[in-house]
Amino acid sequence: MAIVCKSAAEIEKMRRSGRIVREVLDHVRSLVAAGATTMDLERAAEKRIKDLDAKPAFKGYYDYPCVLCTSINEEIVHGIPSDSRVLKPGDIVSIDCGVVLDGYYGDAAITVPVGDAVKQEVRKLLEVTEASLYRGIEQVWVGNAVGDVGAAVQEFVEANGFSVVREFVGHGIGTKLHEEPQVPNFGARGHGPRLREGMVLAIEPMVNFGRPGARVLEDKWTAVTTDGSYSAHFEHCVAVTKNGPMILTN
Ligand code: MF3
Ligand code: CO
Repeated sequence: MAIVCKSAAEIEKMRRSGRIVREVLDHVRSLVAAGATTMDLERAAEKRIKDLDAKPAFKGYYDYPCVLCTSINEEIVHGIPSDSRVLKPGDIVSIDCGVVLDGYYGDAAITVPVGDAVKQEVRKLLEVTEASLYRGIEQVWVGNAVGDVGAAVQEFVEANGFSVVREFVGHGIGTKLHEEPQVPNFGARGHGPRLREGMVLAIEPMVNFGRPGARVLEDKWTAVTTDGSYSAHFEHCVAVTKNGPMILTN
């Protein structure tokens, strides 16, 4: 399958999906507090998605059981919401949400500190991860390469002493949640497919405090750092336009 370019009308539809994802994430963020469970967040998200007349993108994708991924501390991505996971002061929780509206997908993620007890060095991990996403987004110009995105993310993360995850990557998105191309958070400038007008990329740096390695737990979903260090994740969907990057998930 080749990389699918979207028309202006299709990108407008994706902007609507993206706005819904953002609205859900903003709502869920407001519920993050010590004592809340990740299933509390899941239920709130499911209701919001329904109220906004969209459908969840993750639930039933392969056999994923929920509308959110909620990944705490050393969990990198794909943590499954649960009644038994209670947020504690000092935790960080990554919240990833996807929806489909009128056939077009939106996908975004944030990482949120739980309370004021999060260590300064961990707050810096969140700041650097979010800033690295914008470093990647700045590379989204017609004629640049996918490798320019990954290189910009990786250089910024490593200059700040953290490491990028290699086992999971960003992706094209449109009428499917995952389309070509893969969008790694590492790479070499000038390498990989060239960006063309109408491509839409989900750029999603996953950044570990310590070593870069990841492994998947026995639940077959939850990815954790191999060294047990904390990990952060931020994601936006970004369209390639002749005027540069257009963020669809804000
Ligand atoms: N944002 C993630 C991704 O795009 C979430 C996928 S979770 C799944 O890969 F359950 F849908 F697989
Ligand atoms: Co994604």
